[in-house]
Amino acid sequence: MRNMPSYWRKDVYPRLPAIIDRFGSPFHFLSLPGIAGTAQEVISAFGSKSMSYRQFQCIKALPEPWILGFLFRKFGFGFDCSSPGELALAWSLGAKENDIVYSSNDTATGEFEYALSGRGSMLNLDDISFIPLVPVFPKKIFFRINPGKRLTTPKGNVIGDPPIAKYGITIQQIIPAYKMARDRGAREFGIHIMVCSNDRRAHDFVETARFTLEVAVLLYKKLGIRVSWIDIGGGFGIPYRPKDPSLNLDWIATRIDKLFRDFAGQFGFMPMLMTESGRYITGPHGIGVNRVIHVMQKYRHFIGVQAAMSMCPRPAFYGAYHYHDVLTPDGNLRFGPRHFTNVVDPMCENWGRLTAISTTSKCPECGHTEHTNGERLLPRSVQRGDIHVTYNCGAHSGAMAPDSYNFRLPIMGLLDQDGTNENVIMIRKPKKAANVFSLMVFPPGTRRPHPRGY
Ligand SMILES: Cc1ncc(COP(=O)(O)O)c(C=O)c1O
Repeated sequence: MRNMPSYWRKDVYPRLPAIIDRFGSPFHFLSLPGIAGTAQEVISAFGSKSMSYRQFQCIKALPEPWILGFLFRKFGFGFDCSSPGELALAWSLGAKENDIVYSSNDTATGEFEYALSGRGSMLNLDDISFIPLVPVFPKKIFFRINPGKRLTTPKGNVIGDPPIAKYGITIQQIIPAYKMARDRGAREFGIHIMVCSNDRRAHDFVETARFTLEVAVLLYKKLGIRVSWIDIGGGFGIPYRPKDPSLNLDWIATRIDKLFRDFAGQFGFMPMLMTESGRYITGPHGIGVNRVIHVMQKYRHFIGVQAAMSMCPRPAFYGAYHYHDVLTPDGNLRFGPRHFTNVVDPMCENWGRLTAISTTSKCPECGHTEHTNGERLLPRSVQRGDIHVTYNCGAHSGAMAPDSYNFRLPIMGLLDQDGTNENVIMIRKPKKAANVFSLMVFPPGTRRPHPRGY
């Protein structure tokens, strides 16, 4: 637990029974003071150096207007958008062209026009073939660059190892792409790259920045372009396991700043550094809260909770690990002898679970096997009615949940505004089967189903 927020166990667990009494369960519980602390940490690390810097919050990681608006107003964050819906959300929060990077991929052509309409955004083109498809070419343009074999990423990176990833223009396409963009009227240029994902190897971010500066040199020498912005994307990793070390942002920022200063010394201009972090800012500051609804012994040991896939589909999608705690109904952490446990939900898939499917390694107590990301040692004393907590649900969790499969639907979101139960508010209502039915076209003579509270 070394590098996970300690306030969950210390301050929030004792408050959970009252919160469940008031709102019901399951829900995501997000801590605004926690998010503010990390936002400040990011600003202190990157914003205190000589380079100019701005963080653009990745909306898809946690598309919650209360939190996005807070980060925009209080910390001056911009937004990283990747769909028309996210753009509309950013605009509704008051963001304008310079506050938004539109980093879509496989972009439908109408989206370019939309992204540049109204309050606007800065376009980041993912492919060279998109250049002629932008109807009225903007003055400011970014290209997402895929470094190919030039940069490596840790195994299991969900953004994809660059040579096999779907993103970005190739190194060979850099000069033709920027030249074509300039011919179409672009006058200010940015470089975008994102090769890291949940990466805790600090030097990967420094190497990413080093590569972008090489691209900036190339553009300056070959086309006379002075790059205005360098966006190194998100991908700053967080500890998901109790013993995982944290990233040292200041270490990264200090080294990137040195690279930028050396660049400025040599070429006489310094691009602004941008990041698009999502997970690092909000991930640790959200938990998933469930009731234990069953304790079941099959060939393996299971506890059934209310929601897994709609709580956090990462274990199902790519076998990700999330730390779990179980509390008694009155909010005390359960201790004592443990055994390997699968945490599952009612979705009709074996993947309806918060612990990934396990295959290897031996349980000291019951003798069966465990996969490193799979079954979890949880107290034997767990009972129906207990409270189950999943850590690190503040990013790429609820937002990734399947929207209507099996009518096991996205769950409620609660916001802890100041660490007191009086000021906990609901910021997302749970989706109901009735919401899904309202979009279905029923054949004539069929009655629309009325699933009561479901
Ligand atoms: C273009 C882009 N920027 C930023 C992010 C944020 O990544 P993370 O939340 O891991 O920092 C992502 C990934 O979701 C992305 O695809």
